[in-house]
Amino acid sequence: MQVKNACARRASLQPRTPRIVGNNNSTTTSLDEQHAITTQILGFLLHPFIPPPSPTAKIADVGTGTAAWLLDLARSLPPTCQFTGFDVTPSGFPHESARPKNVTFKLHDMFVPFPEEEHGNYDVVAVRFVSSATRRGDFARAVGNLVKLLKPGGWLQWIDSVNFGLYCGVAGLSREACQEVYEGLEPFRSQAAGGENGKGEDDGGPVIGLFVRDAWPSKARAVRERVFQEQGLVDVHEDVFSTDRLQKPELRLREKGTRNIMDCFLGCLGELVGVEGSGWTKERLDALRVKVMREIDGGVYHTLDQVCLVGRRPEQG
Ligand SMILES: C[S@@+](CC[C@H](N)C(=O)[O-])C[C@H]1O[C@@H](n2cnc3c(N)ncnc32)[C@H](O)[C@@H]1O
Repeated sequence: MQVKNACARRASLQPRTPRIVGNNNSTTTSLDEQHAITTQILGFLLHPFIPPPSPTAKIADVGTGTAAWLLDLARSLPPTCQFTGFDVTPSGFPHESARPKNVTFKLHDMFVPFPEEEHGNYDVVAVRFVSSATRRGDFARAVGNLVKLLKPGGWLQWIDSVNFGLYCGVAGLSREACQEVYEGLEPFRSQAAGGENGKGEDDGGPVIGLFVRDAWPSKARAVRERVFQEQGLVDVHEDVFSTDRLQKPELRLREKGTRNIMDCFLGCLGELVGVEGSGWTKERLDALRVKVMREIDGGVYHTLDQVCLVGRRPEQG
């Protein structure tokens, strides 16, 4: 089974879930659009706890995709800084003619230890929107690999989504079709949790990612922060921003964002078509899509929590 859309790329973070192949213009457009919106919601590319990079700084973006974040940051820093984008697939990498001289791209899966020549090289390592439903153990493994990339004193920043919610823009709306899509993602959550019962080696569900709903948000935050601390980081902190933070009705962000995310979820469900016992057929999905878009036309919208975790590698150790 191969995953083919931008959203399901996040699912590919899990070692046991499929890898994506290929890329297309609409995927690129939606990632770039998502970048612009996210940057406005958060209000930063680098968390304010991270000191402004020096003119000789080296910055890595892991799971870089189209490198929207990395290229934006490169534009805002001196051209003497060096930028590296890592990804498991080159399909999103910008064409060579569109790459500034100080930006390079490398293939790497963050679950696999990085080559030793990459260790201790980077002032900042950033990760954004790479997970759909990641267990604590997998999260810790990725963070452990990323920490090794940092120079002493360097910072890790991980931005991801959790806590999808559906809301009515006006009274009396049906949200059933949108809800059916979100609930349909359960097989991906169970898979991440290590089996049908949602119990895996971590004895709990996924702790970070787009499909994750924190049962107890303060505990979930503490778990994620503890993973950073256990991997040797200090000054660990998680912020959370709602996608609703930006109030610019003229941009129709609620509607556009909800269409984007439902498109993305429907793409993930498309991966279940033909999977025995899934209950998903192309006809069911097509009919559901029509209902979903009608609900959004009527004013149903979503929110997500965008969490930003930061932590610093100590100068010593
Ligand atoms: C939704 S895109 C986000 C791209 C970019 N970070 C952004 O915020 O625009 C997720 C990206 O993570 C990459 N990815 C998924 N699992 C990965 C892994 N284990 N190691 C490295 N990259 C991974 C995918 O190939 C994809 O390009």
